[in-house]
Formats: sequence, structure tokens, C-alpha cells
Amino acid sequence: MKNEKMHSKLEIYICNYDRPGEDSCYAKGSKELTDDLKKWAKDESQKGLKVVRGGCLGKCSEGIAIACYPKKEFILEAKKEDIVEIKKGLKEALDQLKS
Ligand code: FES
Repeated sequence: MKNEKMHSKLEIYICNYDRPGEDSCYAKGSKELTDDLKKWAKDESQKGLKVVRGGCLGKCSEGIAIACYPKKEFILEAKKEDIVEIKKGLKEALDQLKS
């Protein structure tokens, strides 16, 4: 076993759980939202941000659900149309953590 320091300062876990026929973040478009945010995070200016395609976060009726660490906050009821606002909030949080 060995330990290694992580390089990310801000991590977000986006629920991509698919529960066919029932309420789920996947059915609300979480795959597309995750793909977009992962691509954006690869941009050098977002260095320190890690975007993770995650499982159910227990907020199914309020999805798309995104868990943010180390803030320990959820972004709930996220939609693809919110992408600009989500990116802005993440960038501000990342800048705060860098300073
Ligand atoms: S299906 Fe997304 S929080 Fe449960």
C-alpha cells in the first residue's frame, strides 16, 4: 500500500445514475452535462478541477445532482441550460482555493 498526494483542489461528482423508467439524473441529461464539464476542465485555466462521472448521490428527485468538494455542497436541479452559470461558479470556487 502507498499514499500519494492528489493534485486536484476542487472535485465535483456528477450523478450519472440511470434508472430506466424512474427518476434519474441520467434521464435528465447528466451524461451530456458531464461530458461538457470534463472537456472544459481539461482547459489549462481550470487546472486543479477534477470532474468525476459519479453514481447516485441520493438526491434523485432534485437531479441533476452535483456534489462539490471540499465545499461539501450540492448543486441541485442542474440543467444543460445552466452550464454557463455552473462553470462560472466552479471557476470562482477554484480561484478562491488557489489564493
Ligand atoms: S439518480 Fe441522481 S442523485 Fe440519484
